[in-house]
Amino acid sequence: MRIVLVGPPGAGKGTQATRLAETLHIPHISTGDLFRANISRQTELGKLAKSYMDAGNLVPDEVTIAMAKDRMEQPDAEGGFLLDGFPRNVSQAQALDVLLDTEDMRLDAVLDLEAPEEEVVKRIAGRRVCRNDSAHVFHETYKQPAREGVCDVCGGELYQRDDDSEETVRKRLEVYHTQTEPIIDYYKAQGLVVTISAMGAVDEVTGRALEALKRDS
Ligand code: AP5
Ligand code: ZN
Repeated sequence: MRIVLVGPPGAGKGTQATRLAETLHIPHISTGDLFRANISRQTELGKLAKSYMDAGNLVPDEVTIAMAKDRMEQPDAEGGFLLDGFPRNVSQAQALDVLLDTEDMRLDAVLDLEAPEEEVVKRIAGRRVCRNDSAHVFHETYKQPAREGVCDVCGGELYQRDDDSEETVRKRLEVYHTQTEPIIDYYKAQGLVVTISAMGAVDEVTGRALEALKRDS
């Protein structure tokens, strides 16, 4: 399956993507995680991306699309993928369509996670992420690690993401509404959008997502 996950910052895209990818046996491709891996390796791309991410803005399309394309062309993505955080505006969605067309591929669904603003703000404020791998995600009340400040998966140090400050979160939400939400209409026109509530326990949301994807495919 080829799936795009969309939803506001903090809706739980990363959390759900990890679980859905495992169940559906497809790789989880997160442009946010790819940028953060570049930042921790201190690559040129990482340095560039950090300046945009810390301000809550989108990284320029040219570098983002090239990075996403490169990842989607890896052998493990041949049979399908779950895109998390990409595309994030209409021009990225158009670029993805061109890319898929040239390979004679198509998307199966765009899963839209809905959550009210006050909930996503709470989820982001308490989020703690592993220094070794930003896909290892915890929450100070909703998903506590066994040992405070230590990742359950790999023993790495947990920290608060630089772009999770209150001011940057407000900016990220604004960018979501103005630049990312329009892709929902773009994909509605292709009949691909499945909307589910991201409220409730993590397991409940995963169940809802799998049901919705089954119904849709
Ligand atoms: P990115 O990393 O994609 O961040 P985001 O979209 O803002 O989403 P988040 O990672 O904040 O949240 P999430 O929905 O994954 O929630 P999570 O599962 O962690 O992008 C970061 C930046 O990179 C962007 O601002 C931009 O600068 C740049 N970027 C990335 N892609 C780009 C692109 N395509 N183009 C241009 N720039 C790009 O959950 C949040 C918390 O809630 C966690 O603590 C979790 O444990 C908890 N939680 C999750 N589900 C539940 C639940 N059901 N109940 C209770 N708690 C829950
Ligand atoms: Zn870890």
